[in-house]
Amino acid sequence: MKDDILKVLIGQEEIAEKVAALGKKISEDYQGKKLLVLGVLKGSFVFMADLLRQITVPCEVEFMAVSSYSSGVKTSGVVKIMKDIDINPNAYNILIVEDILDSGLTLKYLKDLLLQRGALDIRIAALLDKPARRLADIKADYTCFEVPDEFVVGYGLDYAEKYRNLPYVGVLKPEIYQK
Ligand code: IMP
Ligand code: MG
Repeated sequence: MKDDILKVLIGQEEIAEKVAALGKKISEDYQGKKLLVLGVLKGSFVFMADLLRQITVPCEVEFMAVSSYSSGVKTSGVVKIMKDIDINPNAYNILIVEDILDSGLTLKYLKDLLLQRGALDIRIAALLDKPARRLADIKADYTCFEVPDEFVVGYGLDYAEKYRNLPYVGVLKPEIYQK
């Protein structure tokens, strides 16, 4: 797996530090609020697990699975809900947790959908932000790292469902997806 990585962009310790700081900030911001932490599968699951354990206020946890990518590296713009939440978002302050904000099409769609369903407030926590590729009018309320316009994997992020288990975020060698 390591041979497919061009370079490590963000190391394990750096991630842990940022995630801890973010958990602290979120805990302050959501004090006394009815919080639902909503992970977007599958990419967010590693970040979500680490972030949740740094959040010190009561919260509920849900997951949604959406698909906008097939298995390539470019977004299709079409968002399909593969798994929906089991509760009514009405009366919740929702924190959507995503691996990366890229074109923003997925999160724009999700945010609008949950607002339509009556969520009180929606904020976005994205581990990574790749602003160079934004198409939708959306930004993250909380983010850990800004990344350049390169395809990254690890810490939950995949290419063709692989590399999610790398403990760091790395740049994939272009020849892997140009094959
Ligand atoms: P968006 O809708 O284009 O903002 O991105 C949706 C999804 O595309 C993200 O949740 C990721 O799963 C995937 N994605 C975007 N950029 C990357 C990348 O650099 N590496 C791995 N997955 C990515
Ligand atoms: Mg993906």
